[in-house]
Amino acid sequence: MIVTTEADGVVTLRMDRPAKKNALTKTMYAELTDALIKAQANDATRAVIIAASGDDFCAGNDIMDFAQGLPELRAAADLEDLPVFRFLKALTFFDKPLIAAVQGQAVGVGVTLLLHCDLVAASEDARLSLPFLKLGLVPEAGSTLLLPQRIGHQRAFAWMALGEVIGAAEARELGLINRVVARDALDAAAAEMARRVAALPPNAVRQTKGFLRDREALWQVVRAEGEVFRELLFSPEAQAAFMAFMSK
Ligand code: COA
Repeated sequence: MIVTTEADGVVTLRMDRPAKKNALTKTMYAELTDALIKAQANDATRAVIIAASGDDFCAGNDIMDFAQGLPELRAAADLEDLPVFRFLKALTFFDKPLIAAVQGQAVGVGVTLLLHCDLVAASEDARLSLPFLKLGLVPEAGSTLLLPQRIGHQRAFAWMALGEVIGAAEARELGLINRVVARDALDAAAAEMARRVAALPPNAVRQTKGFLRDREALWQVVRAEGEVFRELLFSPEAQAAFMAFMSK
């Protein structure tokens, strides 16, 4: 469900589950994790693009997986025993340029993963939403640190709490997206960004990325959010929200 391609030092990881709006399952997290670890270890890989098939980028974590995975979630001695956290760790510590190509809906982790990317291209129809609070959950993937850093506390809180959907133009103004293009130009825009960073001296790029972000501090936030997130998945509010979604 993740299609990996490689050309000229650029690896593209395409979420390929369009019928479910690329909602991420445990298998997809595991595939993304393996691909990121491999890309990090391979000297020939200079940049990675995260893209998606179909009309939408990603509808967040698969809600069926949430519901069915509750016993495993409760039993995990360490968050890192869970595929989603192994993915978030690989993302947090990924030390090469990461570029996203976003179309249509991006929801939940489909948005918070963008905060880990270094460059983001989006199509004009991109719509970004963070439904965590109304599901009775907390925002994850380090977004409680990364989002206010990027857009300020007030706007971050308003987005998280009021659940507004942010369009491509507004996301660009906020500094969440670098380029907005027509839908049929999205892949080319991401590829061009990737080609340009891939042509730079890789060590300088890697060192610069390291200075731009304190990965250890970020990882501590990802873990802290994750512990609370795991607790809240068992809350009556979250359970009711999942039941409502699944009974639709
Ligand atoms: N998990 C599992 N399945 C999902 C999903 C998710 N997060 N998001 C969408 N899907 C599935 C739907 O169940 C539907 O499947 P079906 O055709 O077999 O019934 C299909 O994808 C299309 O989604 P649908 O809801 O019909 O599309 P829409 O355009 O009306 O709405 C969304 C799109 C993204 C607004 C809506 O699907 C949604 O709210 N999804 C849940 C988002 C979410 O809360 N994610 C978790 C964040 S922690």
